[in-house]
Amino acid sequence: MTITEFKTACETLQQEYQTKISAAQSASEVEDLRVASLGRKGALTDLLKSLKDFSIEDKKTAGPLGNALKAALTAALDEKQSFFATKELNEELNKTEIDLTLPGEPVACGHRHPLSVAQDRMTEILSQLGFEWAEGPWVEDEKHNFDLLNIPLHHPARDAQDTFFVDGKMPLVLRTHTSNVQSRYMEKHKPPLRIMAPGRVFRNDSLDATHSPVFHQIEGLYVDKNVSMADLKSDLTAFMKGLFGDKAEIRFRPSFFPFTEPSVEVDVKCVFCQGKGCNVCKGSGWIEMLGAGVVHPNVLKNCGIDPEQFSGYAFGMGVERLAMMMLNIKDIRTFYENDLRILKQF
Ligand code: DAH
Repeated sequence: MTITEFKTACETLQQEYQTKISAAQSASEVEDLRVASLGRKGALTDLLKSLKDFSIEDKKTAGPLGNALKAALTAALDEKQSFFATKELNEELNKTEIDLTLPGEPVACGHRHPLSVAQDRMTEILSQLGFEWAEGPWVEDEKHNFDLLNIPLHHPARDAQDTFFVDGKMPLVLRTHTSNVQSRYMEKHKPPLRIMAPGRVFRNDSLDATHSPVFHQIEGLYVDKNVSMADLKSDLTAFMKGLFGDKAEIRFRPSFFPFTEPSVEVDVKCVFCQGKGCNVCKGSGWIEMLGAGVVHPNVLKNCGIDPEQFSGYAFGMGVERLAMMMLNIKDIRTFYENDLRILKQF
């Protein structure tokens, strides 16, 4: 074979295979063409065998021609091969019916329980007023739940009809109020002290729209020199303004609790009708919010604080009650039934 014939053979081979590669209908056809052209017994390999009979001069011309042809055929084969690979992938995607343009599925996202939201709001305001967090046990002895708080033996609260008693060696109860934190805290800490004690309390009540055997209270206690009813009034006013806005107003009504003297019940001007009278405040214009008073000297004495030197105020409020007001919830059971359709609204 002459060098000229070699050149022509290269061009013919290139044309022949370019045409065949273009016409290939599948990936396996492309693979067959690869073997037929570049394989060990392929057309190009065959053609290159003739190189060995060429002079050195001719080899210098023929070698690069052969290499260029091999590179061109490899490129054409690879391109066609990747065309089929992409095509196959697209067909696969179409088969599984994935619509990549669809928006993603929304992720269900939980949120805090309305009671927690309300309690956090209340403790947040109290802490801005300088109250520190305190806690006490749910299962409590009668001493801290009743005795130290000046609640006499014959008091109805000590009756099994009102209180859950726990069987055991010591007379134990489920705490009926967060006031147990008062006695526990004052035993251990000396004034000045200013604490808030949120938590669960238990009463032997049956569940209805306004009562629950388990509910939540927040206790407040402030003991220092010269603490008076005036401090109580100004702090509770600030608290209610924080909760219900600057227009909030409170009033004190005389009341009785064994652990405070004098004792008051605190009402807030109805936030729904601004005191005009509506069905929430039952026409009175005021809503009863909490019990409070000046800490009874006996309570201070019982807990090791000298009532001649120190005085204090205390208050206790129901979290559910305030939360129902804040969120306009009419039935206390809403908080405990965990019906997501309802909870999601808050
Ligand atoms: N412990 C009372 C109750 O559960 C609420 C209360 C009233 C707490 C007056 C106080 C207080 O600290 O001074 O009904």
